[in-house]
Amino acid sequence: MPTRVHFPTHIYCEPLQPSGLAKFNADLAEECRQLRDYDDAGRKWSAKNYPGGYTSYASMNELHRFSSTFATLEKKFLRHARAFAKTLDFDLCGRSVRMTDCWVNIMPPTAAHSMHLHPLSFISGTYYVATPAGCPGLKFEDPRLDRFMAAPPRLPDHRPANRIHLTYPAVAGNIILFESWLRHEVTSNRVDAERISISFNFNWS
Ligand code: NI
Repeated sequence: MPTRVHFPTHIYCEPLQPSGLAKFNADLAEECRQLRDYDDAGRKWSAKNYPGGYTSYASMNELHRFSSTFATLEKKFLRHARAFAKTLDFDLCGRSVRMTDCWVNIMPPTAAHSMHLHPLSFISGTYYVATPAGCPGLKFEDPRLDRFMAAPPRLPDHRPANRIHLTYPAVAGNIILFESWLRHEVTSNRVDAERISISFNFNWS
């Protein structure tokens, strides 16, 4: 083939572990809801900045340091983050991959999270705890979108690699990792049940 692909955008998606995810997630969902009940500051912040939903992003964003459940999750996430860093051919220069932030997101009907990226980190991701049928996935945007200028639209049967927006379905038990500069969003939850996820950032230090 005369044409080769360069400058790829990598997205990693895997089950967190091979088995036992249903019970694991049921317990985790319970703990996430307890956290929401307990976190007055987070609920207050969310009312203003995350309409209809709850996130501990601004109040309790280092959950792995305070909860044994989340410390266990950190270890599980780390294994995947290291594998992803390897795929990216990163030379970590003898440093280690470290989870800096970890927070809970609960999205009842109507809650949405508009397009954003994750500053001050190199790998970010989300783990899905509760994903009612029909709830929104994780929508990624081609990072070159602002440079397309006069590019024509894509054919109806274009290859996934040439897609400008790509949505990964939210599947309970799956972890999704991406480089932190990659913009993404969650569109409005239109089903009558709570979608629960845990988001996190990694640095290398
Ligand atoms: Ni995000």
